[in-house]
Amino acid sequence: MAKISLGVIFGGVSSEHEVSLMSAASILENLSAEKYCVYQIGITKEGKWLLYSGPVSGLLDGAWETHPQNVPAFLPPDSSIKGLVVLEEGNSRVIPLDVIFPVLHGKNGEDGTIQGLFQLSGIPFVGCRTHSSAVCMDKAVTHSLLSCANIEQAHYLWFYADRFPVAADTIKNKIKARLNFPVFVKPANAGSSVGVSRVDREEDLDAAILKAIREDDKVVVEEGIIGQEIECAVLGNRDAEASIVGEIGASAQFYDYDDKYINGTSQLYIPARISEETAQKVREIAVRAYRLLGCRGLARVDFFVTQDDHRVILNEINTLPGFTSISMYPKLWEATGLPYSQLLDRLIELAKN
Ligand SMILES: Nc1ncnc2c1ncn2[C@@H]1O[C@H](COP(=O)(O)OP(=O)(O)O)[C@@H](O)[C@H]1O
Ligand SMILES: [Mg+2]
Repeated sequence: MAKISLGVIFGGVSSEHEVSLMSAASILENLSAEKYCVYQIGITKEGKWLLYSGPVSGLLDGAWETHPQNVPAFLPPDSSIKGLVVLEEGNSRVIPLDVIFPVLHGKNGEDGTIQGLFQLSGIPFVGCRTHSSAVCMDKAVTHSLLSCANIEQAHYLWFYADRFPVAADTIKNKIKARLNFPVFVKPANAGSSVGVSRVDREEDLDAAILKAIREDDKVVVEEGIIGQEIECAVLGNRDAEASIVGEIGASAQFYDYDDKYINGTSQLYIPARISEETAQKVREIAVRAYRLLGCRGLARVDFFVTQDDHRVILNEINTLPGFTSISMYPKLWEATGLPYSQLLDRLIELAKN
């Protein structure tokens, strides 16, 4: 059987650029060489697209960016081309692509921006389309839509960043009136806990809001939930299925960037330390939210289960979750009976349906 010509895209203009390199390195190492002819396409932090033909290890130390054989390459929106245009010494050539696998996290990669380009190109791609990517990326929009469907979430409010310099007191008074401390202050559009703060005292609100504003032009403030952090992996198109449920044991005050990627001291519990009844509820809500927001391919749906009364509270939906071999999404499928390489095959198959 002919090999599938697969473009794996990594890096990106995003605060999660480095996380993408880690996810992509794992994926590249686990793709079957018999099934796929892989083209490694890197996007620098400045937004330059390069076809990289060096070793996978070059992603982890950043060496890929200066590899001598790199050539500029880009994806044209022209659907009669269906491939990557490579620019070599003044000439262009086209590498036809059967499927694109974007391994990009956060802005410009997980928010529908690049998905729009894929849709125009006519090339099948892994994961959610423009609309559901954008909706799930924006925590304020996700909250609003899921509230309409009676899916329980933390009490929250949101505001545009440019309101803060002119109406700081009004905003802070609303936070105090509507939410109990501690609260979590977050950029609406970010990920990997970048720009997220836990605020225990009113005096610390300004600093947290200014931090969130550096990442996005919308800020979400939520009441802190006391309980366990639970994650569920969903896979499929219209007939999506949920995995076994996992739990994060954060080693810091909350599951922050360092805890996720630097310290390596947070723990994953698979299965989560919750009752089968609660786990079943998590799975049901995960699939319901996934379908409601129009997801396809994959998403990791994150929850809290409250300490006192075991309520299931949806936190967020990640349409391109972390994908290293020790990340929760692939680990959950492995525990459900689908090993990493087969999970990749399934995602690529789903892209074509
Ligand atoms: N409402 C909340 N209650 C308790 N902890 C929270 C809340 N919101 C966020 N957190 C903590 O902050 C972390 C990052 O927040 P999250 O909303 O998941 O943003 P990101 O998209 O950056 O992962 C969560 O994993 C959790 O540890
Ligand atoms: Mg999160």
